[in-house]
Amino acid sequence: MTKSTNNLSPNNPIGIFDSGIGGLTVAHAITKELPNEKLIYFGDTAHLPYGDKSADSIKYYAIRISQLLLQKKCKMIVIACNTASSLAYETVKDFVGGQALVVNVIDPVVEEVVNKKKIKRIGVIGTKGTIKSDIYSHKIRQHNSKLDVASLATPLLVGMIEEGFFNNKISRTIINDYLSRPKLHKIDSIILACTHFPLIKPEVEEYYKGKVDIIDSAGVVAKHVKDQLKKRKLTNTQKNPQHQFYVSDYTKSFEKSTKVFFRKKIKLEEVAIWK
Ligand code: DGL
Repeated sequence: MTKSTNNLSPNNPIGIFDSGIGGLTVAHAITKELPNEKLIYFGDTAHLPYGDKSADSIKYYAIRISQLLLQKKCKMIVIACNTASSLAYETVKDFVGGQALVVNVIDPVVEEVVNKKKIKRIGVIGTKGTIKSDIYSHKIRQHNSKLDVASLATPLLVGMIEEGFFNNKISRTIINDYLSRPKLHKIDSIILACTHFPLIKPEVEEYYKGKVDIIDSAGVVAKHVKDQLKKRKLTNTQKNPQHQFYVSDYTKSFEKSTKVFFRKKIKLEEVAIWK
């Protein structure tokens, strides 16, 4: 049964959460699509990375964070993290009920992929948690059982990108090593199923030289968020939104890295929900 979301107010903020600051790629894409929306971002830096955590832990974190975003009156909660979307979406949806809309970063991408023509074999790269959940394969094949899905965990990429290694010799070597694995042979499209991967999209493009369609979820998800809000007449009518960016554990180095993911440096504030 769909829970009624009739009481939501257009001028309330959109909540976005991730394991850390990587989800700012999704937040950034949403600001481009919806410049009037106020964002409340929460990065669970105290528990970063989610990629190696158990499903039970991630569900627990996701519920507590959603509770915080509901307290802040968010009309929509976007689970920007692929790992949390893979393992905790249903749990969050059940918990939130009709109090807000809930969006994950997987369904909009699956929708986009299955509607593409001439696609037969889809590659997926992401964290161990995302790949182990097999969620992309499951959801894609639910739409079209003839599609072949080749998934590969690429755990080195997150740390590499966070340390600023992208678009250089080292990142190219690691990316090329992963993409040349037999598992990904003969794919005609690839889903970059991780918050951090928009930053290596140019290198993935360089590797495939236009022969493989590259789907980076941030842009697709931002369009989906816009469609959902429009459909429900929930787009914000006010201008100049003042976003808020929270983390569960503040460090200067996280704050410095925000520039890489949000394209400009932002001020992080700690909400110590675990301390
Ligand atoms: N945010 C995670 C994801 O998109 C990557 C970082 C992590 O492992 O926490 O899957």
